[in-house]
Amino acid sequence: MNREDFPILTKKIIYFDNGATTLKPKVLCDAISDYYMNYSANAHRGDYDISLKVDQMYEGSRALVKEFINAKSIREIVFTSGATDSLNKIIFGYFKYYLTEGDEVLVTKAEHASNLLPWYELAAEKSLNVNYIRLDESYSVTLENVKKSITSKTKVISLAHITNVVGDIRPIKDIVEYAHSLGILVVVDGAQSVPHIKIDVQDLDCDFLAFSAHKMCGPTGLGILYGKEEYLNNTHPIIFGGGMNASFDEEGVRVYKEIPQILEAGTPNIADVIGLGAVIKYISNIGMDNINKYERELKKYAVDKLKQIKDIILYNEDTESGIVTFNMKDVFAQDLAIYLNKYGICVRAGNHCAKILKDELNIKNTCRVSFYFYNTKEEVDKLIEALSNSNLKQEII
Ligand code: ALA
Repeated sequence: MNREDFPILTKKIIYFDNGATTLKPKVLCDAISDYYMNYSANAHRGDYDISLKVDQMYEGSRALVKEFINAKSIREIVFTSGATDSLNKIIFGYFKYYLTEGDEVLVTKAEHASNLLPWYELAAEKSLNVNYIRLDESYSVTLENVKKSITSKTKVISLAHITNVVGDIRPIKDIVEYAHSLGILVVVDGAQSVPHIKIDVQDLDCDFLAFSAHKMCGPTGLGILYGKEEYLNNTHPIIFGGGMNASFDEEGVRVYKEIPQILEAGTPNIADVIGLGAVIKYISNIGMDNINKYERELKKYAVDKLKQIKDIILYNEDTESGIVTFNMKDVFAQDLAIYLNKYGICVRAGNHCAKILKDELNIKNTCRVSFYFYNTKEEVDKLIEALSNSNLKQEII
């Protein structure tokens, strides 16, 4: 779908690494270029035309993000530098003050480093316990296993909505409903879900959601933190400076602005926020349901063909996202990725930043194909052809 919108696709590459970052459409480049070429003033500071236009475009993007995830208010949308930054902002700005010694944080071993390391840091600082919800035989999270893991000390559950290696879609709505019945808060890492499925934060009822622009056709270095207003209002800034203060004096008396500005210190990433607005319109026009349906079709097509190749080991054939994780028997994952690169095929190999998932998979490194809407069955055929090469192992050695 829409391949002509991506200038890079005129090159001879087959890009299957969309879980790492997606390609960028021309509408993104045009929006960013238009800002730099035609009205490159600062935001929230000027009283002249081009600065007022910046404010209108920057806040317009915030309104588009609000609509895109169906937040209640633009006050619930904070621009950050990425999903990692969003998670750090709430873990050290909210949970640091909310949790006390002995409290428990529940995660899984399939989480990305950005949803584990900040929790480990906070746990060390505040004597918290980070415990793991057991994954089932297909490495997924079930509500039953969540229920079994919760103790009287559990105060927060922090989970990826879609995991970046196995690609399972977690039953977040059910988990949130159950967690809330016990007064437990739920943080959702939406880095791999927001770009691929329709997200409605009011329907999910999650308390916080973090995601990145660059995994949804947007620019790098930009993320979004969604939080319910009542929690964001109690989130302490972890970065201080211009733009977030209303006043301060020589005695050090400080008055800070309200959300979201209090959490956006410094000159913001204006060009990229404006670019994100353009891509939200772009992918909304394609339709999130169409994107998801198409990716699932591609995954089924790829899985059916991969299963016919001798020596391919598939780890997640049944998960519902566009992620296919596999190895070839007796071939090191990275070597396979380097081999595929000879055919212009870009896949990711390694542990994919989910470094403790190996305890569950019993395998440290895998190859990952992650689809987006511009991938095609013809591209999958080329992958299958390269993997079916009877000389593959000799070529790698
Ligand atoms: N989190 C990104 C990935 O899964 C980088 O590849």
